[in-house]
Amino acid sequence: MSTTLLAPELRGGHEGSPLQVHVTTMIDDLIAQLPDPEQLTDEERRGIIARYTAVLEGNFIYWMTATYLATQSREARPILIDNLLEEVRDSHPVMMRKFAVAAGAFPTSDDALAVHNDLTKMRLFLGKLQGVQSLATMAFFEGFIQKFMPFLAALAGGRGSVEMEYTDVHGVCDVAHSEGLFRAVLLENSLNPISLEANFFEGIDLLRNLIHSIIQDPTARNAA
Ligand SMILES: [Fe+2]
Repeated sequence: MSTTLLAPELRGGHEGSPLQVHVTTMIDDLIAQLPDPEQLTDEERRGIIARYTAVLEGNFIYWMTATYLATQSREARPILIDNLLEEVRDSHPVMMRKFAVAAGAFPTSDDALAVHNDLTKMRLFLGKLQGVQSLATMAFFEGFIQKFMPFLAALAGGRGSVEMEYTDVHGVCDVAHSEGLFRAVLLENSLNPISLEANFFEGIDLLRNLIHSIIQDPTARNAA
C-alpha cells in the first residue's frame, strides 16, 4: 500500500487506529503462516530458535536506538526511552541467551550467516534514520514478537527446555510497548511527516523477509 493511500490512517487517533488495525492484520497473517511445532524435526526447531536468537540478541536494542535517533517528536521519544530502559535494566539479551542455551540452540556461524543478507538490509534501512518508517517497523516488530512467543516457547519445550523467562516476559510486556509505538508513529508523522512518494512499509517488508528467513533457513531453501 502506498503512503498516499495510508494518509487518512496516519492522521488517525490512538489505540485501535486504522493504522494499528492494518499493521496488526499483517502480523496476524505472518503468525498464521507459522508451521505446527509438533510437525517440525528437532533440527528445524533448533534452527528457528538459533536464527531468532542470532537476530534478536544483538540487534533489538541497536534497532530501537536507531529508531530513537531517527525520531524528532519530543512526545514520541519517551516511548522509545521506556522500551530501551526496560531492555537494558532487565537485560533482555541475557534472557534471550539463557533461553537459547537452555534449548540447546545457541546460534552457530551457519545460523548467523543464514540470516546475514536480510539482517544487513534491516540495518541499512534503519541507518537511513526515517522516523515514521522506523517507528512503524518497530511497532510491527513488537506486535509480532508478542504473538510469536507461544510458538517460540513450544519449540524450546519440544527440545526439553523449561527455561521460559524470555517468552513469558515478552508475551506480556510487549503489548504495552506495541501500543505506545503505534501512538509514536502518529506523533512523529504529525511533526516530521513521511513524503507521499516514500514507501511506508519499507522497513516492515524487510523485517517480514527477515522473519521468513528465521522460520525457514534460506540457505536450506537454496540447497533444496
Ligand atoms: Fe525485550
